[in-house]
Amino acid sequence: KKVIFSGMQPSGNITLGNYLGALKNWTKLQDEYNCLFCIVDLHALTVRQNPAELRKRAREVLMQYIAAGLDPEKNIIYYQSHVPAHAELAWILNCFTYMGELNRMTQFKEKSQKHKDNINAGLFTYPVLMAADILLYQADLVPVGNDQSQHLEITRDIAIRFNNLYGDTFTVPEGYFPKVGARIMSLQEPTKKMSKSDENENAYIALLDSPDTIVRKLKRAVTDSEAKIQYTDKQPGIKNLLDIYCSITEESVEEAVDRFSSLGYGEFKLKVAEAIIEELRPLQNRFYELEKDKAYIDGIIKTNAEKASYIANRTLRKVQKKIGLPPIV
Ligand code: TYM
Repeated sequence: KKVIFSGMQPSGNITLGNYLGALKNWTKLQDEYNCLFCIVDLHALTVRQNPAELRKRAREVLMQYIAAGLDPEKNIIYYQSHVPAHAELAWILNCFTYMGELNRMTQFKEKSQKHKDNINAGLFTYPVLMAADILLYQADLVPVGNDQSQHLEITRDIAIRFNNLYGDTFTVPEGYFPKVGARIMSLQEPTKKMSKSDENENAYIALLDSPDTIVRKLKRAVTDSEAKIQYTDKQPGIKNLLDIYCSITEESVEEAVDRFSSLGYGEFKLKVAEAIIEELRPLQNRFYELEKDKAYIDGIIKTNAEKASYIANRTLRKVQKKIGLPPIV
């Protein structure tokens, strides 16, 4: 079986963008592939976090993975920080990555614009830790949203560079992007991507938002004055709502436009809200059930960290040997 690796940062509430761009697709891949789904808590440290909140959110992300339908028996679901090999391989790969390459990362440029008071070295080498995540497990495919494509390219470059120097060591991974939903936009500024770290809560739908909240956020979603439901870049707000709707219902955009063309924006927004509410209802119910079962979740955290460590350490040992680090005995 081919190997899949993907992850999410516990840096905020998981959004509908994370769900449609990544999580929902992961659930469809779990039968066909050997999958690892990580909660990348070390990556979240690149932005200042409140310790108690980080701990709480990391656990919530894990429970939301499971609530969304990822089977913790079939997939390896774990925290990045529980497998020290991620940080160790990241250090090694740092020495095989050029400043010039990292300087070109658009996400670094955006994030350092946003957090001018904390442009730390971790933020700069963030893509190298991501490369380590993926390469440790010899992943073939990495299902992510479009915003991660540049990070995937650098991962491939690092893997190819290392393989050329030391012989075949890493599988060179490929990105796997959804056809619809690969880039869900902010509800408040539809030319910006929906982000879990947005200060404006109205800009995103969180997976645990109540039906009332979802309706309210949709009603406030920024649109335009064209008063016409069509799928065009000139109407980014409406386009985004169509993307959301079609990504959930798996209906084609043409069909949806056809069906909604006679509606006013208000009515259309309610249709989209309904689709979101129905999609999230089972996930939310399972989440609140899981929350009651502390021992069950604790067990998953422990056994899955062990499974991940076993695979990760195998690759790390191989790398250490190839580059000439001395063995313990
Ligand atoms: P993160 O935590 O920002 O996002 C998690 C996943 O959600 C996708 N995504 C979106 N998809 C569609 N529309 C959006 N508005 C949207 N926002 C986010 C992201 O593309 C991602 O798939 N660097 C990664 C985490 C990571 C990782 C990895 C991913 C660390 N190591 C190894 C894959 C493999 C990140 O910050 O994702």
